[in-house]
Amino acid sequence: MSEPCLTVTQALQARRSTRAFLPTPVPRAVLEEVFALARHVPSNCNTQPWRAYVVSGAQKDELSRALVAEAGSGRPPDSDFEWDVKFVGEHRERQFGAAAALYGTTGVERHDRAARQRSLLRNWGFFDAPHAVFFTMQRYLGMVGAVDLGIFAQAVALLLAERGIACCFQGALGMYPGPARRMLELPEDVGILFGMSIGYADPEAPANRTCTERVDLDAAVRFVG
Ligand SMILES: Cc1cc2nc3c(=O)[nH]c(=O)nc-3n(C[C@H](O)[C@H](O)[C@H](O)COP(=O)(O)O)c2cc1C
Repeated sequence: MSEPCLTVTQALQARRSTRAFLPTPVPRAVLEEVFALARHVPSNCNTQPWRAYVVSGAQKDELSRALVAEAGSGRPPDSDFEWDVKFVGEHRERQFGAAAALYGTTGVERHDRAARQRSLLRNWGFFDAPHAVFFTMQRYLGMVGAVDLGIFAQAVALLLAERGIACCFQGALGMYPGPARRMLELPEDVGILFGMSIGYADPEAPANRTCTERVDLDAAVRFVG
């Protein structure tokens, strides 16, 4: 077992979404350990509906090229699952806050559409990460399966953080599922819910200095009784 360096509390306090990676691959044994441990999370009726695909090396590069071409083509997204909620109210404000934080650190001007598009397209280049993960499940599961996939993926993220490995959850990786579906030969009844880029954070990259805020405790939880 690789040497964990952080407690869960430390990992949660230290973590943030990483959007610039070094090219160094994560050893395969470490990735296998992380996904093996993540299997211990709970799931609805122990259904364990997730299947993650970790894509690396030349296949990751090929997939990234195909995805950037597709996402950059101007074609509308074609997600396997409903993933196009228009945030309203405080959610919209927080969405703007997160975007402003990223654009602020990376020097993207709010009205510079070309720069915003380049920034967005980095999603499908996996932010130069050496590994891209696609979290899939059978389509019929809908929201029930999505809860389980989220729990599984968060365990993966924390286990990575514990080992000093960074990641970024990416709904964007479910928006143009075609290239990954073909490469992974997914059956028709299976869909890509979201993805994640994994690797070692580039400590020099401005994007990785992006800081987001959290609501106060009483807005997140109410203790009753
Ligand atoms: C399910 C999910 C999907 C996300 N999709 C994307 C994405 O497509 N691209 C991206 O850059 N960040 C994505 N994020 C990262 C969020 O923007 C980020 O978690 C949020 O702004 C809080 O920042 P932090 O993770 O640095 O604390 C996603 C996060 C989650 C949990």
